[in-house]
Amino acid sequence: MGKGFFLSKPLGVVCMILGAGAVATIIALSVVYSQEKAKNDNQVLPTDGGTTTKPPATTAAPSNEPWDKYRLPKSLVPQQYNVTLWPRLLPDTTGLYIFTDLILIHSNKLNYTDSASLTSFDSGVKAPSIKSSFLQIETQYLVLQLDGKLVKDHMYQLYTKFTGELADDLGGFYRSEYYEAGVKKYVYPAMKAVFHITLIHDIGTVALSNGMQKETSSVVIESQNVQKTAFGPTEKMSTYLLAFIVSDFAQINNTIDDVLIRIFARKPAIDAGQGQYALNKTGPILKFFEGYYSSKYPLLKSDQIALPDFNAGAMENWGLITYRETALLYDESFSSNSNKERIATIIAHELAHMWFGNLVTLRWWNDLWLNEGFASYVEYLGADNAEPDWNIKDLIVLNDVHRVFAVDAWPLLTLCPLKKRTFRNQPRSVSCLMPSHTARAT
Ligand SMILES: *[C@@H]1O[C@H](CO)[C@@H](O)[C@H](O)[C@H]1NC(C)=O
Ligand SMILES: *[C@@H]1O[C@H](CO)[C@@H](O)[C@H](O)[C@H]1NC(C)=O
Ligand SMILES: *[C@@H]1O[C@H](CO)[C@@H](O)[C@H](O)[C@H]1NC(C)=O
Ligand SMILES: *[C@@H]1O[C@H](CO)[C@@H](O)[C@H](O)[C@H]1NC(C)=O
Repeated sequence: MGKGFFLSKPLGVVCMILGAGAVATIIALSVVYSQEKAKNDNQVLPTDGGTTTKPPATTAAPSNEPWDKYRLPKSLVPQQYNVTLWPRLLPDTTGLYIFTDLILIHSNKLNYTDSASLTSFDSGVKAPSIKSSFLQIETQYLVLQLDGKLVKDHMYQLYTKFTGELADDLGGFYRSEYYEAGVKKYVYPAMKAVFHITLIHDIGTVALSNGMQKETSSVVIESQNVQKTAFGPTEKMSTYLLAFIVSDFAQINNTIDDVLIRIFARKPAIDAGQGQYALNKTGPILKFFEGYYSSKYPLLKSDQIALPDFNAGAMENWGLITYRETALLYDESFSSNSNKERIATIIAHELAHMWFGNLVTLRWWNDLWLNEGFASYVEYLGADNAEPDWNIKDLIVLNDVHRVFAVDAWPLLTLCPLKKRTFRNQPRSVSCLMPSHTARAT
């Protein structure tokens, strides 16, 4: 079985708490003044030349400060993130956004080491300096207040350095007994940017991210011999789809129409051939969706990885889909038909998201039902294409229609066992579902 590869176990306990991940985030921002202006007009924000005076303390009035709102202002739009992570422990960089003299960056449980610096990307425009900064815990922002306004249509670069705990809480960038994995989620779906990712990792481990590995070199950092893997730029995408994984996993692969398809898992699982079914089916399902959507799969590769401890069933990170082991690995000698059915449908579900969700994205999470609802439907079409003699579409009635009836029949909910079939990080929006294995036959 796999073992921790970042840290030996005794050391791991210590480092989990104290370890520091050096992380540099460089963000180029562009200012969108008009939207911000329109927003200002609706808000109780100071108009006295920009001096931010807090409104008088009244008891119940909700705060109008941008950092107390969960949705980012549209006054700054991210262009690209250059992120370098060194996961001895890890942080959680993120979405960022701003007001004209205010920069908000999503940030959770990170300690900022050096003070952040803001520079202008265009010559001729001087960047304002950072007047003050603080963490707004409730809304999970790093708030940077500037001593001047940002100029419309100009680009700025923000540089921050932070450390954070690489906890094994299955949230954000986390540490597990078996591997390291990171997933960004819940950030801000409508704000998309290009990500340039670099991972610093131990020799003998493989680093993965959304883009294709560009180059790996041996480097010495803080007198440690480590490897540095740089990835090609991602598509313009939401931060919640970003993924980084460092592991000692093995892989199998094939190529279909110039798209590299790889299945990663613990070495013993790969050696036992447990990735083979997923590898066999991924190419055909991908081709099916290209035809179904009339849109070519835009990436150079499609990686899928089985993680021994993973919160959801699977997560559709663009180009690097993460699964629980049971949702991806199939062993002819002991897996059941229902396991196989689940694998085919979950792969189809996640691949469906490569277009519906990743390429085309909801503006905010209240439309998640659309994202998930659609993928939960077309997963049957993809699986049916991959296994035409299963008649799997018949199961829509049992698995989904009846489940929806059960949800609607709310008085029954408390009687219903809490067995959720979650395909992704966001649990389905219902709190109780029919037992998912009732009458599942193939
Ligand atoms: C980000 O990284 C890319 C690729 O390495 C590079 O071309 C670009 O100049 C970098 N951007 C910034 C703002 O440093
Ligand atoms: C972050 O700062 C807090 C408070 O100073 C401290 O308790 C914690 O250990 C720090 N964490 C890291 C990873 O540096
Ligand atoms: C595909 O797998 C083979 C081993 O089966 C390996 O030699 C090769 O490097 C892999 N290709 C890629 C692009 O990962
Ligand atoms: C995968 O495909 C190969 C070649 O068609 C076949 O021999 C093998 O049985 C398949 N494996 C599984 C687990 O479906």
